[in-house]
Amino acid sequence: MKNIIIAIDGPAASGKSSTAKRVAQQLGYVHVDTGAMYRAVALKAMQLGVESGDRDAIERMAKTTTVRLEYDDAQKVHVMLDGADVTDAIRMPEVSKAASDISAVPAVRDLLVREQRAMGAQGGIVLDGRDIGTVVFPNAELKIFMIADAYERAVRRAMELEEKGIYADVLALEREIMERDRNDSTRAHSPLKKADDAYVIDTTRLTIEEQTAFILSRAKELLA
Ligand code: CDP
Repeated sequence: MKNIIIAIDGPAASGKSSTAKRVAQQLGYVHVDTGAMYRAVALKAMQLGVESGDRDAIERMAKTTTVRLEYDDAQKVHVMLDGADVTDAIRMPEVSKAASDISAVPAVRDLLVREQRAMGAQGGIVLDGRDIGTVVFPNAELKIFMIADAYERAVRRAMELEEKGIYADVLALEREIMERDRNDSTRAHSPLKKADDAYVIDTTRLTIEEQTAFILSRAKELLA
């Protein structure tokens, strides 16, 4: 069986990671949540008190930072920052905005893109993020761009956070999501953008099973 690369991009909280995880499980592929990697670098900057506007300090920090995704026996992913498990800490809402700011710094992107390309070199992988189909793997065999209404995305994110015991206001989340999309789409380096050859899926009225099934059927056509 061929091992393809599946790239899933799209704006904040559009359901990329949960869908990518299911697609990977069904195909026996590895899932790489690239947003988690940017979140980990942002967490480090927050812990060290390094401002995202201080490009020199961020570049210096990036040079001595390692971010790895490790998979345990139950296939649960652990986000490792300089060897420490930060899987839960990176989901705090304040890390989202910090990740969006720090991801505009080229030195940070270079560090993480290198790691992502190494993970995907053999194929058999589903990556989700903002620049996977445009920059990280422009030759990915299957590209998806996932969108959804901003309010619906905020409701879903609030529910996800609630499951983790974090309570957030839906309207505040909607504002944060829209601001982050603006930030991500307008940055100079690797902005959030649909690849010309990506399928667009609007998930506003789809269930996770429906969006997963769509991607799986496209993948199976390519693997046939
Ligand atoms: O899960 P959610 O959509 O809220 O965000 P995420 O995928 O965890 O990504 C957090 C932030 O990291 C985004 O707002 C982007 O600024 C940045 N990011 C990026 O620049 N490139 C990627 N490939 C993935 C995330």
